[in-house]
Amino acid sequence: MDGRLAIIGIGRMGEALLGGLLRTGALTPAQVVCTDVRAERCHEIEAAHGVAAHADNRAAVADADVVLLAVKPQSLATVLSGFGDSLHAGQTVISIVAGITTAWIEDQLPDGVPVVRVMPNTPALVDEGMSIVAGGRNADGGDLALAEELLSAVGQVVRLPEDQVDAATAISGSGPAYLFLLAESLMEAGVHLGLSREVATRLVEQTLLGSATLLRDAEEHPALLREAVTSPGGVTAAALARFESAALRAVVLEAVAAARDRAGELGGG
Ligand SMILES: NC(=O)c1ccc[n+]([C@@H]2O[C@H](COP(=O)([O-])OP(=O)(O)OC[C@H]3O[C@@H](n4cnc5c(N)ncnc54)[C@H](OP(=O)(O)O)[C@@H]3O)[C@@H](O)[C@H]2O)c1
Repeated sequence: MDGRLAIIGIGRMGEALLGGLLRTGALTPAQVVCTDVRAERCHEIEAAHGVAAHADNRAAVADADVVLLAVKPQSLATVLSGFGDSLHAGQTVISIVAGITTAWIEDQLPDGVPVVRVMPNTPALVDEGMSIVAGGRNADGGDLALAEELLSAVGQVVRLPEDQVDAATAISGSGPAYLFLLAESLMEAGVHLGLSREVATRLVEQTLLGSATLLRDAEEHPALLREAVTSPGGVTAAALARFESAALRAVVLEAVAAARDRAGELGGG
């Protein structure tokens, strides 16, 4: 990317993105400025990444081509009230702030400033993120391409209309938590059956990683992959029958719909 990036709120997700952008060579440290309210955090970021970091949001956005909003949702209104009026239509605002719509952000900014909303997920911390990108009313193809380019430094990116972001959040945004719950349950089950915690952990981690890789690389429907490890009347079939009788699929459907609805409520949708 040409131009300068200002990351407003360099917390966990902001730093994950910064690390990916520098590692992949998408940006050089000289192109980036980060802000945080805590001086100690700014020193930490400067030392770790060689970028400028300070607490002055207004100064940071002054000569930025792209402004990445990465503060907590509850801080966003205060943060934008400090510098939003200084932004202009030649800049692109990219927000990773969960649940806040582009329309709400646009209302805090001068007319014409393009806003792109992004929903990343925590595997971005290990460059295996899944980010959803949606453009607001002023964002054109160039703004969306810019957001995609930045987010692809930490994983994959899918472009969606904003009215599908809550549904996507319920799948990929919250999805890691569902899979961690499954991992935790499998580990406990292994211990229950007499395996050491260490062995149970290793078996579960590698099985999840291997299955995810197979699902991606084999390019087959998961039902076919499941059938391939399920002999009639066999070991896996015994477990699957229990999952079916506990209505696992129906629970997943209900749980994901509940997450989608909650995302809508929090975002005022
Ligand atoms: N983590 C995720 O998996 C994930 C996924 C999707 C979306 N998101 C979104 O990403 C955003 C950041 O999440 P996070 O987990 O990275 O949170 P975080 O670690 O708390 O990062 C937010 C950072 O912004 C700083 N900050 C607060 N007020 C500020 C201000 N006025 N000016 C400049 N910086 C300020 C905070 O500083 P202090 O720590 O000193 O308060 C903190 O370092 C959130 O809106 C979240 O919804 C996160």
